[in-house]
Amino acid sequence: MVKNIAVIRGDGIGPEIVNEALKVLDKVAELYGHTFNYTDVDMGGCAIDKHGDPLPESELNKCVKSDSVLLGAVGGNKWNDVPGNMRPEKGLLRLRAGMGVYSNNRPAKIWPQLADASPLKKSIVDEGIDFIIVRELIGGIYFGEHKTVDDTAIDVLTYSEAEIERIGRIGFETARKRNKKLCSVEKSNVLDSSRLWRKVMHLLAKEYPDVELSDMLVDNCAMQIVKNPAQFDVIVTENMFGDILSDEASMITGSIGMIPSSSLGATTCGLYEPIHGSAPDIAGKDVANPVGTILSAAMMLRYSFDMNEEADAIENAVSGYLDAGYRTADIMSEGMTLVGCKQCGDLIINHIKKE
Ligand code: IPM
Ligand code: MG
Repeated sequence: MVKNIAVIRGDGIGPEIVNEALKVLDKVAELYGHTFNYTDVDMGGCAIDKHGDPLPESELNKCVKSDSVLLGAVGGNKWNDVPGNMRPEKGLLRLRAGMGVYSNNRPAKIWPQLADASPLKKSIVDEGIDFIIVRELIGGIYFGEHKTVDDTAIDVLTYSEAEIERIGRIGFETARKRNKKLCSVEKSNVLDSSRLWRKVMHLLAKEYPDVELSDMLVDNCAMQIVKNPAQFDVIVTENMFGDILSDEASMITGSIGMIPSSSLGATTCGLYEPIHGSAPDIAGKDVANPVGTILSAAMMLRYSFDMNEEADAIENAVSGYLDAGYRTADIMSEGMTLVGCKQCGDLIINHIKKE
């Protein structure tokens, strides 16, 4: 198959980790006889420097016209003082909205090889950690009005029934393909938008009688994720709660550097990115963990290109690399072999086999 992939290297460690993911994609293309064409897209701080805009229209168009988008990370201290609507992160938000990718899927799964890297007690880890956070990605407070008037700042949080329903359906469908347990997370003891959220989820539940729906307040959920993560199968939640809970969920699996994500909307053109940021403190030092980006590329193959075998080959290669005892600095532990970003990519490539 021929696929056109828009590639956003971005800022900080973005270019390094994306390089490794592209090496992996090239290896898959070679083994399975595909052609992946890459188009570079400027977004984030580098786009501000080059075009004076974190995501010029022309760059967004390249993404919308592609078969899917692979993204490293954007942002950095250098652009802290630019106005809010021109920040690097604004490019990312405009990209998500412009592509219409309302459903963000963030798995929290412990690799058995990394059980020691989890900050949780062994007895909790041994119960198992394998759940998915389905995060609404293009609504809520991220996309409400933002303004500062004199000494007062305002950020508006809005959700319509239709916006809740479409993400709710993804939550139910995702649970249906797994262990059929969906936990809807909100703050309905305080927020109107959360009360509407809960109401819509319960209406939808009637259409999915095979899925067990539960409700949980977000503060309690934050606690339950560290107390008893094994209880979760699929969590569905709004944009900002999902942002916060997915960082927490990633950490209990060992490292945020290992976690990929997919974002999809009405079409198969998706956005694939690791859930971590641009880590400017370690940029350019060849110490970043590229696995989150490499696994995001695997998700692209699976969910946008329907290349399940190829995606399996990448995931098995990551597992083989961990089995062989290699670790980047973020997950390093005693007795393991420390590797840099490039070496990590090379080792994973060596483990890719056509089954
Ligand atoms: C994420 C990031 C982004 C978000 C930032 C960089 C805007 O934290 O993808 O989780 O908040 O969505
Ligand atoms: Mg985040």
